[in-house]
Amino acid sequence: MTKKPYRKIAPSILSANFARLEEEVQQVVQAGADLIHVDVMDGHFVPNLTIGPVVIEAIRKICSLPLDVHLMIEKPERYIKDFAQAGSNYLTVHVETCPHLHRTLQSIKDLGVKAGVTLNPATPLTTLENIIEDVDLILVMSVNPGFGGQSFIQNSLKKLAKARKLIDEGNPKVELEVDGGIKIENIQQIAATGVDIFVAGSAIFGSQNYKDTIEQMRKAAQNG
Ligand code: DX5
Ligand code: ZN
Repeated sequence: MTKKPYRKIAPSILSANFARLEEEVQQVVQAGADLIHVDVMDGHFVPNLTIGPVVIEAIRKICSLPLDVHLMIEKPERYIKDFAQAGSNYLTVHVETCPHLHRTLQSIKDLGVKAGVTLNPATPLTTLENIIEDVDLILVMSVNPGFGGQSFIQNSLKKLAKARKLIDEGNPKVELEVDGGIKIENIQQIAATGVDIFVAGSAIFGSQNYKDTIEQMRKAAQNG
């Protein structure tokens, strides 16, 4: 039995109050966040539009935590340099958007940024078997990407357990992240599959006290 790793909490600013973004980011930093998760949507790959490199650059200036940037955009290779220069620490692309995934991951790493790859709920993990040695992070989507506040898809538990196995057997340095529908109530069960990083938007920014929520989430995750 190996020692349980430290579980990280990554608040997703998609559910923050954008009119007070600086304050919101600082509050989750003070509340004990480990990373800041930033959802980039293009209105094509997903039916929603959010933010681009200029906002990431602005967050970079007021926050020293790692910026975990989730690219829900078509042809992400067009913007990788911009997102890297804006101060991203992780750049995660969707398998569904990358016909030349190996090349895309390589170009992220060449810019000194950690390369992540993510899968929609319907996309099988087998798409990652041949590139497991080239990734720094695998993000399993536990909702269909596009919006905050959706319910966790229960079938994701099986996929997360399989992803853990793929990582343990193929490249144990890879971090396993989950995104979508993570709450205080379900995080322990999800953590039991071996997740390292938990993204949570509405559960944190929709709560009265960010610190209490993050502490409760981390405690439950550590018990999983
Ligand atoms: C969904 C985004 C998520 C979203 C999660 O497309 O990738 O990061 O903000 O929101 P919650 O935690 O509310 O499900
Ligand atoms: Zn996300």
